[in-house]
Amino acid sequence: MSSRVEMRVVVVLALLFWGISHEVEGGRELERELRRLNKPAIKSFQTEYGDIFDCVDINKQPALDHPLLKNHKVQKRPSVFPRGLGHKTSAKTQSSIIGLPDGGCPEGTVPIKRITKRDLVWMKSLKDNTKHFHPVDAKTPGFHQAYTRQSPGTYYGAQGGISLHKEPATDDQSHRSVITVSGGSPDKLNAIQVGWTVNKAAYGDGATRMFISWTADNFGKTGCRDLLCPGFVQVDKSVAPGMVFQQLSTIDGAQHDYYFSIFQNNSTDENWWLMGWPEKKIIGYWPKTLFPDMKESFTSLEWGGYVQVKDPNTKEYPQMGSGVFPEEGYGKAAYFKFIKLVKNSAGEFQDVSPKEVVTFNDRPTCYRVGPKAELLYWPGYHFFYGGPGGNCGH
Ligand SMILES: *[C@@H]1O[C@H](CO)[C@@H](O)[C@H](O)[C@H]1NC(C)=O
Ligand SMILES: *[C@@H]1O[C@H](CO)[C@@H](O)[C@H](O)[C@H]1NC(C)=O
Repeated sequence: MSSRVEMRVVVVLALLFWGISHEVEGGRELERELRRLNKPAIKSFQTEYGDIFDCVDINKQPALDHPLLKNHKVQKRPSVFPRGLGHKTSAKTQSSIIGLPDGGCPEGTVPIKRITKRDLVWMKSLKDNTKHFHPVDAKTPGFHQAYTRQSPGTYYGAQGGISLHKEPATDDQSHRSVITVSGGSPDKLNAIQVGWTVNKAAYGDGATRMFISWTADNFGKTGCRDLLCPGFVQVDKSVAPGMVFQQLSTIDGAQHDYYFSIFQNNSTDENWWLMGWPEKKIIGYWPKTLFPDMKESFTSLEWGGYVQVKDPNTKEYPQMGSGVFPEEGYGKAAYFKFIKLVKNSAGEFQDVSPKEVVTFNDRPTCYRVGPKAELLYWPGYHFFYGGPGGNCGH
């Protein structure tokens, strides 16, 4: 071998070794991070969808790693429940019965979906794109939206039943149907979201999952989805963010939905509580200290569907809801039912009023949102939304 060839071999080997050791170091770092994030479990189990849930001591859960929650004492239930809370059933819609297998976790522990390498890699990939959870306005690149929004004011709660759907899943498209409550100035927006999502890049599959997210700075540096960062305090043993909704609506088949309530009381514990129905589950809460700009109340309430594509230059967008327009009506179109809010210190959920909401869709040829709808002879405010997507531009 000539010395030049030898030199080349040495350089190639050195680069190769550097590359491997670099990767190994990166991998080790991820593993260290995972060990820090995933708390010791009293019991762990795997669902049929391949998700691992760790049953963690309720008083040692990841939320308490948040610097503002160092001395936080976990609360099991709200000090006060607003009246009018919850859910009505009817013969025709069926609420989805949800919950982890075998009732979830033992007493005194809470289920925390185990954070995987995939989750960490996904989270890091979002760092350059801060607006990944919610469109900031009508023209946010990569998003389309169809929603009903309450006119700005002082609110202490929002709730609604959200129909559940399967979405064709690709790696670079995602979908969510959520209730969003927010407050604070636009650049420091404090917000909470709950609903369902299909997001293959984030979760690794196309399942329809319970989804929460929060932020204290307009989806910039703070907050995350589910329990990937400390913040949300989990209370229930069997309903947990990231879990799969098994019963979904189908066109001309059964219609399944799940009902969420978010509320706070500014004169009691002031936490932002999350409940789920029909099981009357106190799922958990966001402690008030997370939201410096939303201490008193929410100022904005929104119920809607949002689709997002990874590449904002793409023209091809996924379907929203069940993939049909709201005009198709019950049995076909996706819906929000019994949307309600808490308006004043009376502490009572009341129906949203048609006079006080605006409906909005940013691309009516692809997605629409309907007006107040008649639904199964029930009083209250319901609406249909969604559409087939397709070539929707950006
Ligand atoms: C709570 O909200 C009510 C209604 O807006 C207001 O009158 C009251 O002063 C607030 N209480 C506290 C403790 O902030
Ligand atoms: C908060 O709780 C108080 C005391 O129970 C109650 O009088 C009030 O109506 C509640 N306010 C809200 C907004 O829920």
